[in-house]
Amino acid sequence: MSLQEIREFVEQPEPRPVGDDLTAVSLFSGAGLSDVGYASAGFRLVVQVEQDSDRAAVGARNFPRSKWLRRDVRTAHDEIADVYRDHTDQRLALLVATPPCQGMSSSNPGRGRRSTNQEGRKEELNKLILEIVPAAARLRPRIIVAENVRPVLTLEVSYGERRRKVIDHLRDGLPQYHLFSGIVNVADYGVPQDRRRAVVVGVRRDEPWLRLLRGANVAPWPRATHAEIPKNDLDQWTTIRQWMEYLEYETLDSASPANAVGEHPLHYVPNYTDNPDRYLQISQIPPYSGRNAYENDTCPTCRSQPIRAGVVKCVRGHLMRNRPYVRTGTGFRLVKGFRSSYRRMAPDQPARTITTNTSHIGSDFKIHPWENRVLSTLECADLQTVPRRFDWSSAINARPRSKRYLIRNLIGEAFPPYFTFLHGQVLTGLLQDSRFDDKRCAHHVRQ
Ligand SMILES: C[S@@+](CC[C@H](N)C(=O)[O-])C[C@H]1O[C@@H](n2cnc3c(N)ncnc32)[C@H](O)[C@@H]1O
Repeated sequence: MSLQEIREFVEQPEPRPVGDDLTAVSLFSGAGLSDVGYASAGFRLVVQVEQDSDRAAVGARNFPRSKWLRRDVRTAHDEIADVYRDHTDQRLALLVATPPCQGMSSSNPGRGRRSTNQEGRKEELNKLILEIVPAAARLRPRIIVAENVRPVLTLEVSYGERRRKVIDHLRDGLPQYHLFSGIVNVADYGVPQDRRRAVVVGVRRDEPWLRLLRGANVAPWPRATHAEIPKNDLDQWTTIRQWMEYLEYETLDSASPANAVGEHPLHYVPNYTDNPDRYLQISQIPPYSGRNAYENDTCPTCRSQPIRAGVVKCVRGHLMRNRPYVRTGTGFRLVKGFRSSYRRMAPDQPARTITTNTSHIGSDFKIHPWENRVLSTLECADLQTVPRRFDWSSAINARPRSKRYLIRNLIGEAFPPYFTFLHGQVLTGLLQDSRFDDKRCAHHVRQ
């Protein structure tokens, strides 16, 4: 996939016409960003389920033909199936589930031991993916797709009587499906973002093309076109610099409100007029260096340098305001940070994972590779391949203003629509006429 193809996907003004033949239901839909890709590939979303009403309001504007249920999936299985049947007689083609990920990353609650409420809450979040079991029992989809962070493939949770891996619970709960599981990285499809996620795809065992997939040892998702170290006919990963130069974004700067806002309604960044030291920390990291603010080694007050790493004052006792610092009871100290925090993005690599906190310079790799600011909301949306036609108006106009964070959150949570579009094309090919081209499908390395 070339940069041009991804750009066309992002900038395409009109949605592709959606067929009526292949229906889809999505659970944990957010604002439906991942659903946009499946819809672009030809699926018609019939029911989308999201418990947060602000998220659902954004989604409903973008999927006016679909029924949005503002419900907790865990208590709505019957209703989801009833609403689906009220709207169509067709057999459900695709059930997509993209539950939240917060529980995973730090979770390994010690084999059956739940020490705190927090651990219990994480466990509840980690189990949300298993909601596809009762949902699939009622909806009987031809294909199930679940996406989540990578630990979902190795994580253990208690479900029913037993504590075992999520993927094993899924296998037990979905005996009518053959499950494929693996890791996909959108950088491997030419997207300038290193974002790795687990996917599980269940194919109902009566699908005639299932044996072809298994025979060829391929999985029902697209084959990579790019690689970090390319071999054979693969292309090199796209870098953030290539992408940003190609899209020619209007220059922004965090020093003042006027320069922090561009013409496009989503091209804006925080400004640091109320915290000039924050601006200093960013602006003194050399452009294109990929370095962090802890490495700023010239004192902004007396210009002495090099000031050694790890100290908060220069040799003459001035505060190193261009390093991340906090006030303590007795003076100042450096913010405890990781190598990745307060750091410019490396220009010659894809962006690191676009997260929900893209406006915080203290989070991982959040500073623009050469301008003095974080990425704008528009740049994050583009890196997540959200089509520009996506209607954000209900979030943009939301009051109080903090709700505008909703857009960055939704963007960071998305399963990138360009990937779901490519994936949707593979699935529609298989579902519609058993079009099976093993060269389009990924090799299946069972995880
Ligand atoms: C990872 S996000 C979904 C992202 C979405 N697929 C996209 O690409 O934009 C997960 C969503 O699940 C919602 N959610 C969490 N728990 C839920 C529950 N029990 N029932 C319904 N929705 C839930 C969250 O509010 C969040 O919007």
